[in-house]
Amino acid sequence: MIASPLAPFAERQAWPPYLPEVAEAVFAALSAPLTGTSVLDGVSDDDPINAFESRFADLVDARFALATNSGAAALHLALLAGGVGPGDEVILPAYGWGQILVFLDALDAVPVFADVDASWCLDPASVAERVTPRTRAIVAIHVAGRPASMPALREIADAAPAFLIEDACSALGATIAGRPVGSFGDAAAFSFGPRKHLPCGEGGMLVTHDRAVWEAAMAAGSHPHRFARHARTPAAAPNHETFWPYRIHPLAAVIGLATVPSLAAWHAARSHRLRRLCQTLLEEGAVAPLAGWNDPGHAWGALLVQTEDPRESPSVLLPDLRPGPVRVPLHRRPGVLARWGTSPPCPVAENACRLERWFPDAVACIGSRP
Ligand SMILES: Cc1ncc(COP(=O)(O)O)c(C=O)c1O
Repeated sequence: MIASPLAPFAERQAWPPYLPEVAEAVFAALSAPLTGTSVLDGVSDDDPINAFESRFADLVDARFALATNSGAAALHLALLAGGVGPGDEVILPAYGWGQILVFLDALDAVPVFADVDASWCLDPASVAERVTPRTRAIVAIHVAGRPASMPALREIADAAPAFLIEDACSALGATIAGRPVGSFGDAAAFSFGPRKHLPCGEGGMLVTHDRAVWEAAMAAGSHPHRFARHARTPAAAPNHETFWPYRIHPLAAVIGLATVPSLAAWHAARSHRLRRLCQTLLEEGAVAPLAGWNDPGHAWGALLVQTEDPRESPSVLLPDLRPGPVRVPLHRRPGVLARWGTSPPCPVAENACRLERWFPDAVACIGSRP
């Protein structure tokens, strides 16, 4: 095979990269019972979960954060805290990671699929057309680290009114005019899974500016003891045993906390490399990076490109460029059709599924560590 001229830009680390400071933090946390409270006890006021939540809230300019055991769990808690229930309509993009549908099914809520724009994120114009008096929530996905149009979506949600949720699971570090994603919605979800910007093994975070939303999420997905320690409205306390099992493992919080200081340098290295790679792809002309690839607020959760040509030319394309990631628009999936019936067309999302190719390891493109 002809060596790809793009290879130097796509040079990547094993992911997650080995950080001695993470290993030391885990060792220190597990050694603590010799000197004080065990990290595995998980209920002391200085436990790493509290520290991770407060550090993460600062990172994304949010007032409150609740750590969970996955990004999907944070999305579910956002829906619950937003009061989504039976018969409520939830507007979401027809292109994206569709795991939230399982929670809409469980809540007996109704997904309303809106189209995406040229960046393949939720299109505010399409959302505005889908709003009805039954709209309870709007979910925007920051697809592969590319920020969705949050200011316009915020206006639509306020006018509806609807609870605005950001799925920022693949977009930690993305910004809009310098403001971090996660700070625009009524709640936002982040993921700390294996291919994410802040890998903790597994984990997630719900963030919000609203104490009532934070407490409602905590009531729905934390241990009642934790809720009792933090909540100012104990009347909203969950009944024992009726909360969702979404607590983060304390060692995932230790790992997250020790990894946060590396994020800014990783972001800079990744942006530099993937911009160069996109520039070269454009010059080669065989595939086009997605609209907005040069946006300084892009967090590069993955590299998405589009091509009309289903044959992949080894002279220009990275060997790892694959079909996907969405393939079938959400409103056309068999399970969705069986559960909720047909939806109006979403031509841009449908076209995106035809043209998409992706390079999933983009977060690992930080080059070699010195
Ligand atoms: C856009 C998006 N939403 C939600 C999730 C779910 O996150 P998790 O795997 O942590 O549950 C992912 C995971 O890849 C994602 O990319």
